[in-house]
Amino acid sequence: MSQEIVMRRVTAPEIRARKGGEPIVALTSYHANTARIADNHCDILLVGDSLGMVLYAMDSTLGVSLDMMIMHGRAVVRGSKRAMVIIDMPFGSYEESPALAFRNAARIMQETGCGGVKIEGGARMAETIRFLADRGIPVMAHIGLTPQSVNTLGGFKTQGRDTALWPLIKADAKAVSDAGAFSVVLEGIVEPLAAEISREIPISTIGIGGSRECDGQILVLEDMLGYNPKPPKFVKVYGSIGAGIDQAVKAYADDVRSRAFPGDEHVYPLK
Ligand code: KIV
Repeated sequence: MSQEIVMRRVTAPEIRARKGGEPIVALTSYHANTARIADNHCDILLVGDSLGMVLYAMDSTLGVSLDMMIMHGRAVVRGSKRAMVIIDMPFGSYEESPALAFRNAARIMQETGCGGVKIEGGARMAETIRFLADRGIPVMAHIGLTPQSVNTLGGFKTQGRDTALWPLIKADAKAVSDAGAFSVVLEGIVEPLAAEISREIPISTIGIGGSRECDGQILVLEDMLGYNPKPPKFVKVYGSIGAGIDQAVKAYADDVRSRAFPGDEHVYPLK
């Protein structure tokens, strides 16, 4: 008798319940091919608005639109089967009011089939997080270095170097947790503070340039693959995809230039 194996996606309550347990593995993914591969190993695939910088060579994430996020989100959902797919709400799509945030988050969920959305901001976004979570939208929060605030932060800077600011960052973590976020990304937060936050709040923390004491880790896939010639300092590079592409493209160019490139005779043999 054949047994059908039903693939089920990881859910928001499961991620929340991993607090203090087996570390959560998360990576960004922007299209179906990387989603298909990363899905074999990851609990969460984040369609991050970092795609604006990584794929579209923007200077910041501010130019990313809701339509771009939805297009890439659809591809990642189609390419994966098991991981929870989270989609970033882009700058301008949620800050104005909880009602606007709900309309746009509902559009993301309906048009992509993803498992939840991520929004940047701590205490100032708590009302919106509660509004969404109360209406059936799983929310991952994102505090510390929040790239959409690059202009008010004065750059992509590590947060919490000045210990006088620790209470504010901790208050952000508590606010998003109390508001109903199932998880929170701690980005660019000094190690001891990220570790303390992870111990103090009941939801799963996902670190990026944070602490190994976070409940999980996320990296931008292209950074850890060796695709980005200048990855952030905290990134451990696990691959050499950039060099691999360079080698393959050079071999192809050499074949074409020396007329060694195979012709169509194998595909369309003459009778
Ligand atoms: O946009 C993104 O890729 C992110 C991760 C870096 C957490 O927000």
